[in-house]
Amino acid sequence: MCCRLRGSLFLCIYCTICTLIFMLILSIIIFWIIISPSNIKFHVTDASLTQFNLTTDNTLYYNLRVNITVRNPNNNILVYYRKITAIAWYKDNAFGAVELAPFDQGHKNTTFLQAVFEGQNVIRLKGKQVAEYKEETSVGIYNDLALDLDLTIKAKYGRFKRTGSFNPAIVQCRRLGVPLISKYNCKTPPPFSASRCKTGASFVDRNAGDA
Ligand SMILES: *[C@@H]1O[C@H](CO)[C@@H](O)[C@H](O)[C@H]1NC(C)=O
Ligand SMILES: *[C@@H]1O[C@H](CO)[C@@H](O)[C@H](O)[C@H]1NC(C)=O
Ligand SMILES: *[C@@H]1O[C@H](CO)[C@@H](O)[C@H](O)[C@H]1NC(C)=O
Repeated sequence: MCCRLRGSLFLCIYCTICTLIFMLILSIIIFWIIISPSNIKFHVTDASLTQFNLTTDNTLYYNLRVNITVRNPNNNILVYYRKITAIAWYKDNAFGAVELAPFDQGHKNTTFLQAVFEGQNVIRLKGKQVAEYKEETSVGIYNDLALDLDLTIKAKYGRFKRTGSFNPAIVQCRRLGVPLISKYNCKTPPPFSASRCKTGASFVDRNAGDA
């Protein structure tokens, strides 16, 4: 229409290209407003130890239970958790890893998970950390425990097609102070203070920036 009015081929092409670019930008903006993915939220709601013995040959005997909530805050994204590896740390030493059962999560839903770490592993603590371990043992609460969640997920955006599997940034639940239950035989252990885990972008592959 604008072509006939102006009667110039150049203007006509220019006009069409401008309109197309404008429409493209507008549709991308509308798409992101509709989807606007929020990151998945992870909290550690409870954690307890029934065993946490570090022997003189650096072997740690452990039995750790961690309750985790996973919330998908999005209105229009379904999340398929294909693989969930939970890794337990004590003062910079990873001492255990478990696979949690895969699950699917609907819009605005929260899922409760429990990771149970049980076994023994050799860890290397520095002298100062061994002293801290001994002090924590006498108090009955171990500090500097941490939990990582290494995820492989798929997502489905509204009615659009689902993505392939990808790995978002590792979820890091740091600085957990966990009571050793046996230390509190008759008394109730101090309440565990729930803590929020650090997450990167949930719907972007962690290696997306690498070439
Ligand atoms: C761990 O320590 C507790 C109490 O100190 C003891 O009863 C238990 O036998 C120890 N377990 C191991 C595997 O060393
Ligand atoms: C932790 O999870 C276990 C098993 O799902 C449950 O029995 C327990 O009540 C949970 N604890 C808290 C504080 O949510
Ligand atoms: C969210 O979870 C509840 C209970 O687990 C379930 O009944 C509901 O259908 C779920 N919603 C979606 C959108 O998946």
